[in-house]
Amino acid sequence: MDVTIDQSVFRENLLNGKTAIVTGASRGIGAAIAQKLCEAGANVVLCSRSADAVGQIADMLQDTGYTALSMAADISEKADVETLIEKTISQFSQIDILVNNAGITRDMLLMRLKDEDWDAVLQTNLTGTMYCTRAVLRPMIRQKSGRIINISSVIGLMGNAGQASYAAAKAGIIGLTKATAKEVGARGITVNAIAPGFITTDMTAQIPEQSQQQLLELIPLRAFGHPEDVADAVCFLASDAARYITGQTLQVDGGMVM
Ligand code: NAI
Repeated sequence: MDVTIDQSVFRENLLNGKTAIVTGASRGIGAAIAQKLCEAGANVVLCSRSADAVGQIADMLQDTGYTALSMAADISEKADVETLIEKTISQFSQIDILVNNAGITRDMLLMRLKDEDWDAVLQTNLTGTMYCTRAVLRPMIRQKSGRIINISSVIGLMGNAGQASYAAAKAGIIGLTKATAKEVGARGITVNAIAPGFITTDMTAQIPEQSQQQLLELIPLRAFGHPEDVADAVCFLASDAARYITGQTLQVDGGMVM
């Protein structure tokens, strides 16, 4: 059978008319996710703590002709999250896709870890993800559809010395993903996680060159990932092609953990 698919048309129409929120979209993986969702036809609300940084990314996307809005919101603050969701609904009347991407690290060996650093990492990565997820459930249940995609990490699967808080938060996201998937599956909402491996962004730029080379040896594909690799997985999980997938954690890690 001879089948020809126009890839560009497929890609542009994938999420036509959908509205997506991406947290932590001022740079790195979040900015790439926002761009790919725009390319796939979605209206995208980009959120980050700093209005300036996220505004620049949204302006760049608007200049390309996409519907992209920026909103300053600290996802670790419940009131900020509620305002973000209200403003998105008043602008676009619906929320089809939530990508919980915002995250921070404050790495330290557990023996020396300060309570405030533990609290900050858990509050942003895990509690912030819960705040955003909880806030979109009502509109998604009303619509009888929705896609929630949580950015976890391979560190949440395998642990890492010096990253107890981050590993706990990212493992917590996987538990949150599964529980939420079970609660809202019957309402037409899917909830999945992505566990990226080593992706070249500001977050990983701090890792010393020698450690980076050692890490490379652990990756069967012998390359670090790029933000676009994670963004492609997000577009898949947000699309109709992933309609029968929920409660899963998709690793985008070059085979690093298996
Ligand atoms: P990054 O540090 O380059 O960007 C993080 C983004 O989150 C920024 O836009 C920042 O402003 C935003 N953010 C941080 N705290 C926030 C808050 N309280 N409220 C709103 N926005 C906030 O990080 P990167 O590398 O792009 O990572 C994105 C996500 O992917 C994070 O959740 C990270 O844990 C995860 N990840 C990254 C990996 C990597 O190798 N870079 C590997 C595995 C997971």
